[in-house]
Amino acid sequence: MKGKPVAVLVDAVEYDRHRIASSRRGRSNRDCGSFTTLKRPPQTEYFQCCLIRLVERRDLLTSVTRALDRAPIVLLMGPRQCGKTTVARQIAASRRSTWFDLEDPEVALRQEAAKQVLAPLRGLVVIDECQRQPALFPLLRVLADRRPRPARFLILGSASPDLVRGVSETLAGRVARLEMGGFVLSEVDTRRRDDLWLRGGLPPSFLARTDADSFAWRADFVTTFLERDVPQLGIRVPAPALRRFWTMLAHLHGQVWNAAELARALGTGEAAARHHLDILVGAFLVRVLPPWFENLGKRLVKAAKVYVRDSGLLHYLLGARRRLDLYSHPKLGASWEGFALEQVVRRLDAERDAYFYATHGGAELDLLIVRGRRRLGFEFKHADLPDVTRSMHVALADLRLEHLFVVHPGERSHGLRERVSALALRDLDTVRREWKLG
Ligand SMILES: Nc1ncnc2c1ncn2[C@@H]1O[C@H](COP(=O)(O)OP(=O)(O)O)[C@@H](O)[C@H]1O
Ligand SMILES: [Mg+2]
Repeated sequence: MKGKPVAVLVDAVEYDRHRIASSRRGRSNRDCGSFTTLKRPPQTEYFQCCLIRLVERRDLLTSVTRALDRAPIVLLMGPRQCGKTTVARQIAASRRSTWFDLEDPEVALRQEAAKQVLAPLRGLVVIDECQRQPALFPLLRVLADRRPRPARFLILGSASPDLVRGVSETLAGRVARLEMGGFVLSEVDTRRRDDLWLRGGLPPSFLARTDADSFAWRADFVTTFLERDVPQLGIRVPAPALRRFWTMLAHLHGQVWNAAELARALGTGEAAARHHLDILVGAFLVRVLPPWFENLGKRLVKAAKVYVRDSGLLHYLLGARRRLDLYSHPKLGASWEGFALEQVVRRLDAERDAYFYATHGGAELDLLIVRGRRRLGFEFKHADLPDVTRSMHVALADLRLEHLFVVHPGERSHGLRERVSALALRDLDTVRREWKLG
């Protein structure tokens, strides 16, 4: 089912309902192509009939479902358009549920009436675009503390709680926080890896008919984010200034963050540069990779590295429209590094234990994942036949790595020397399984 067009005139959830029903009748998923009508009238923009290609995201659905079993409130966060609503619709379709879209002006969840509306509900309550009404959170805390629990809450948001003041503290302890992003390689046909790299994982960009359509979609995405989403968060920053900053960051993709240098280049203060960075990080658009620190008797780099998380947005900001542009771009290596790093961190669930390592003496490791006593290193090389470098030897010894993977775009994974191997990105899932890193 990976990425193949379903070619039916329904939305994702109607499709899924049908799929479940037909598998109960003993028919295979392939039979779904005959399902062409929408049974209910369209309720929201989302429900309008569209020709959809549904990409199955089984692991993601499982994580959200498990989190709902565990915690009374699940906060599912990710950048705009990454597929949060679609995932939640699929989960809600299979159980008793009530849906509130806070972006819909007709939704009756006004603050003063919220308690009366939410308290009697049973089953699953989904609140979409929760960053629009942060004042709801104290109420959710009260509702989540009831015993027995009449309802569970799935809260969707495209801005991190750190960006929406007060939310982190209000919900501490009761919430399972999950992050998602656009498609990762394991969710799409691996033969489309280069499309995923060029266009990025946001579904409409990845699934666009042509590279040009995908590029145009990303251009709109950036403009909408700057001109509509940021102001809606109550953040006042001129859109052109943030656009300039974001573009500049694309050119510094994969480098160590230096606020002073950036502020100078942009003619702003350091505080403004920091604020701009916080906005893009809080909206899940930029990754700040912290440096690893331990006392090794060496002078370590202490500033963080920055990456534009979605490779498609990176390429839009760099003006790389087609593969040809990407392959001839001076940022090719950095782009591969960011793309592969994002895949590894997401697939190995390493959001909270990912670092880089660099000494002022020149030793470097692109990604260090620390799990208890285990330490795994990753280097990202856009070369078909990667080699072991001196810097890798130093990192292996300094950090006492269990293993070092050199992740490359080629076809084959193989050992390079003891504790070092070349890993073709498409074999990442094998590593995940064999090293029990899921
Ligand atoms: N698994 C998927 N397969 C195909 N298209 C998808 C999938 N998930 C999302 N989309 C499409 O991507 C767009 C954004 O999805 P949506 O769920 O609205 O994102 P979000 O709620 O994160 O903004 C929609 O047009 C949706 O149809
Ligand atoms: Mg949504």
